[in-house]
Amino acid sequence: MSQRAVRVGSPASLDTLLPAAADDPGQPGPGEIRVRLAASSLNYHDFAVVTGMIPAEAGRIPMSDGAGTVEAVGEGVSEFKAGDAVVSTFFPDWIDGAPPVTAFKGVPGDGIDGYAREVVVTPAHWFTRVPAGYSHAEAATLTCAGLTAWRALFVDDAVKPGSTVLVQGSGGVSIFALQFAKAAGARVIATSSSDEKLERLKARGADELINYRETPAWGMKALELTGGVGVDTVVEIGGSGTLDQSMMATRVGGHVALIGVLAGFAGPVQTALLMAKNLRVQGLTVGSRTQQLAMIAGIEANGIKPVISNHFPLERLADAFRHQAANGHFGKIVVDI
Ligand SMILES: NC(=O)c1ccc[n+]([C@@H]2O[C@H](COP(=O)([O-])OP(=O)(O)OC[C@H]3O[C@@H](n4cnc5c(N)ncnc54)[C@H](OP(=O)(O)O)[C@@H]3O)[C@@H](O)[C@H]2O)c1
Repeated sequence: MSQRAVRVGSPASLDTLLPAAADDPGQPGPGEIRVRLAASSLNYHDFAVVTGMIPAEAGRIPMSDGAGTVEAVGEGVSEFKAGDAVVSTFFPDWIDGAPPVTAFKGVPGDGIDGYAREVVVTPAHWFTRVPAGYSHAEAATLTCAGLTAWRALFVDDAVKPGSTVLVQGSGGVSIFALQFAKAAGARVIATSSSDEKLERLKARGADELINYRETPAWGMKALELTGGVGVDTVVEIGGSGTLDQSMMATRVGGHVALIGVLAGFAGPVQTALLMAKNLRVQGLTVGSRTQQLAMIAGIEANGIKPVISNHFPLERLADAFRHQAANGHFGKIVVDI
């Protein structure tokens, strides 16, 4: 028996990212579950895999995020039963505690096959439950973008009522960070390259808006907006190209959650500013299974729903990535399987 899938081509590119068949994985063994996948969602990390920026094996099934329904459980599985809605974890074997230094070797859609397919059999702990009332499409947004934003604000930081958080742009991680920060009672400064997107960020709760194209020194603008004090936390998705402005925007002793690379992988950094402001710039990679379950509880307690920009069918995965690359999205792009 075979199933529908999409595989990374050789050489990897959006033109060689094509539908292909994969074997049906059969029935679950002891400790395993069989999941019928219904949705995935795009992350910049997936884009890097399918375009060859991150080298992956030819024929790799991409996508780190997967949500669907448990079809069968193997012997000894007590957490799930057939019919349960589940969502994948980014680091399947990082259950709890400090991050294991495993790079992306064990990450679905990178070091191992991911969720651009119809059905998988995996150890039960590779998935968690989903928030009550979530559709498969909504659940599929949580694995990477949702958990990364959660960890930046509530694991590596202690954002609380009255905190000030700066989020950059209107992609998946940043909109989750906006929603989570508002739910925690924080004041949010949002940036975007587009005034139209800024208005949509405002509608989602952003308190202050800065167009980073029109105001390249947006760090100074954020300082002004906080009466010269600076923000407590920056959700940094740009990397080296935005870090100096982020540090400028941050209060003395504040935290820059270094998440992304959209504005560069490496570059000069104002280390004297970092020192003088007693800043904490902390890198992070997604989070653990325990943190995912905490996020799900937090989502339920606050009735948060993800912002889904577009849906594409699995067979048009390459077009979904073209849409992401053209910056046409606001929030998450979902793939329906
Ligand atoms: N470390 C981790 O664990 C982790 C996890 C998830 C993602 N990431 C990284 O975080 C970044 C964002 O990922 P994503 O999945 O949220 O991407 P995404 O949904 O594709 O977000 C793209 C958006 O980012 C904004 N953007 C692009 N360049 C920017 C810049 N120079 N300054 C401010 N905003 C900018 C744009 O917003 P506007 O159109 O509004 O300008 C763009 O629409 C990527 O680098 C990704 O690799 C890291």
